[in-house]
Amino acid sequence: MKNQQQLLESITSYIDKFQYPEQPEGLYAPIKYILSLGGKRLRPLLMLMAYNLYKEDTESILPQAIALETYHNFTLLHDDLMDRADMRRGNLTVHKKWNDNTAILSGDAMLILAYHLFVTNSTAGGNANPHTLLRALGTFNKATLGVCDGQQYDVDFESRNDVCEEEYMEMIRLKTSLLLSCALKIGAQLADAPDADTQHLYTFGEKMGLAFQLQDDLLDVYGDPAVFGKKIGGDILCNKKTFMLINALQKAEGDDKAELLKWINAKEFIPEEKIKSVTAIYNNVKIKDFCQAKIEQLFADALAELEQVNVAESKKTELKDFADKLLGRNK
Ligand code: IPE
Ligand code: IPE
Ligand code: MG
Ligand code: MG
Ligand code: MG
Repeated sequence: MKNQQQLLESITSYIDKFQYPEQPEGLYAPIKYILSLGGKRLRPLLMLMAYNLYKEDTESILPQAIALETYHNFTLLHDDLMDRADMRRGNLTVHKKWNDNTAILSGDAMLILAYHLFVTNSTAGGNANPHTLLRALGTFNKATLGVCDGQQYDVDFESRNDVCEEEYMEMIRLKTSLLLSCALKIGAQLADAPDADTQHLYTFGEKMGLAFQLQDDLLDVYGDPAVFGKKIGGDILCNKKTFMLINALQKAEGDDKAELLKWINAKEFIPEEKIKSVTAIYNNVKIKDFCQAKIEQLFADALAELEQVNVAESKKTELKDFADKLLGRNK
């Protein structure tokens, strides 16, 4: 079995060596740019780790793993445009460095490249069986369309003030969890793992993905921008219906409640003032601790699901370690 560091090196090396066409430069330079900024590479790592529970030749599924990372990066180009975000991975977002049209078209090209990579069969043979690859492609398709569903709900919720926690959890399951859970499922499917294991790994990813998005929302308010790599307060400015905002609306009383509603309904405001005031209300109702408790619960649920996977305990160490590290993340 390989450790996370070794798997990460193989991912990085594949991405660094990948040859994009030179022309038109305006289309491919932003793609090289966003992928060169790194990121945590969680999705390809999860795919390789799941595969590695059953098979050794992880190199053979690198095209599929990088397909997922390329798809993820495509969603970021469009997401940053939709969320009016200026910073990503400590650098300017593509639509800020170039322009909106570039983010749209380079994003589109990345989506196509992701599918191109997914059906690339590498020589090592792990995925040589067309039936196995087709089944995994079906899993990928379901997840990639579901992410769009989730993104649409996310946008719809910006202009609604009656979003409940259940709706929020379903929205983040779609926009974020699906890609993590499909990474694990595809890794297992390509390794011809038993169906029961594949399902447990999927659910492990699903729960971890929910916790992961709650953390992302928390860091969007309480993170250190120099470490997190994104501007703080973007969700507050967009009226994103996060777990924190939904629960703060429930918990706030009197002046706090009136003030929170005032900021949500405000049409014109100074961005810094809105971020400061909403954060102050979050602090008053102790939303950070409340959110943190939910995150810990979801991670515990995820690990309980991993227990159900029918492989030797020693083989699960990497995935457990991965989840533990993610729980303490600040970027
Ligand atoms: C950002 O994903 C988008 C979310 C689903 C919150 P990551 O936090 O995995 O982003 P990178 O790839 O590490 O930059
Ligand atoms: C990300 O949600 C979901 C997708 C990109 C599909 P966010 O909008 O919260 O992600 P960040 O914070 O911009 O990375
Ligand atoms: Mg965003
Ligand atoms: Mg978004
Ligand atoms: Mg976010």
